[in-house]
Amino acid sequence: MTTDTATATYKNKVTAAFNGAAATYDRLDVEFFTPMGGRLVELADPRPGERLLDVGCGLGATLLPAARLIGDRGRALGIDIAEAMIEEAGKEAARQGIANVDLRVMDGEHPDLPARSFDLVLGSYSVIFLPDARAALARYADLLADGGRIAFTSPVFTRDTFPFLPPLFTELIPMSLLEHLPEAWHPEQLQKQLHSWLEDPADLTAALEKAGFTDVEITDEPVIQTAPSGDAWVTWSHTQGMRLLWQHLPEDEAAALRERIVTALDALRTDGGRVRFEVPARTHTAGGARSPPPPPPR
Ligand SMILES: C[S@@+](CC[C@H](N)C(=O)[O-])C[C@H]1O[C@@H](n2cnc3c(N)ncnc32)[C@H](O)[C@@H]1O
Repeated sequence: MTTDTATATYKNKVTAAFNGAAATYDRLDVEFFTPMGGRLVELADPRPGERLLDVGCGLGATLLPAARLIGDRGRALGIDIAEAMIEEAGKEAARQGIANVDLRVMDGEHPDLPARSFDLVLGSYSVIFLPDARAALARYADLLADGGRIAFTSPVFTRDTFPFLPPLFTELIPMSLLEHLPEAWHPEQLQKQLHSWLEDPADLTAALEKAGFTDVEITDEPVIQTAPSGDAWVTWSHTQGMRLLWQHLPEDEAAALRERIVTALDALRTDGGRVRFEVPARTHTAGGARSPPPPPPR
């Protein structure tokens, strides 16, 4: 398979997974994406009148609180590769009475948008889905007007944890199950494309600087994830990136995995209350998008 074909296959899988998840995404009483998106907005600090782009906006966990802050004079654009996510985000914006938002189905790795037309680019748990995120960062720098900023979140990867999940799950999900995930997330690929630069803050800073950003800041802060029960968590996990694993697991392995996770998570409940655990998360902010090259001499 050529690299282009592999990338297209991977993106089709991601798109189908999130199209299938959109109706219940972030709506199953498991707290994670909404608090994480809210924290990203606090760190990004959108200001009244700014023009912002949210890459992989999902249902708007980041887009909508940011749109409120930029106010009527500002303009927010949310893009997502999954059409159903964009549809649901439109409904959510209307439900919340937020009118300064546009939504478009678009591949965030290659945004088809005018240069220098944004003040802030955001992405919560979305940039990590891009097969070549480092190349995309340079495109985001081009989309920013002078003084523009970027802010995005990622999981904190380490080589020995199952990709995208907190360390708690490493013992529950054998690494052998990785074969059911898209190839782009296999350790050797992750190491090449995502893993190493997201794992190592120095690599990450270098990637952002190479893309044209300055003043890179990396903030590691866990998100407290809560769920009504282990069973509710597993049901919720079918509505996010882990859906890609569940979809491809043979039935017997899926049932065994479900049982292991439910038992382990229910053991974290105190007094029959909610399951509660920390998910390591990392926010990257940078500013100083590069100025354009000087015009050619006449
Ligand atoms: C884990 S969700 C995060 C959504 C939202 N930012 C939030 O915090 O709830 C990842 C999102 O990225 C989108 N996505 C994945 N690959 C993408 C791509 N190449 N271009 C645009 N969106 C993409 C998915 O469709 C999904 O909505």
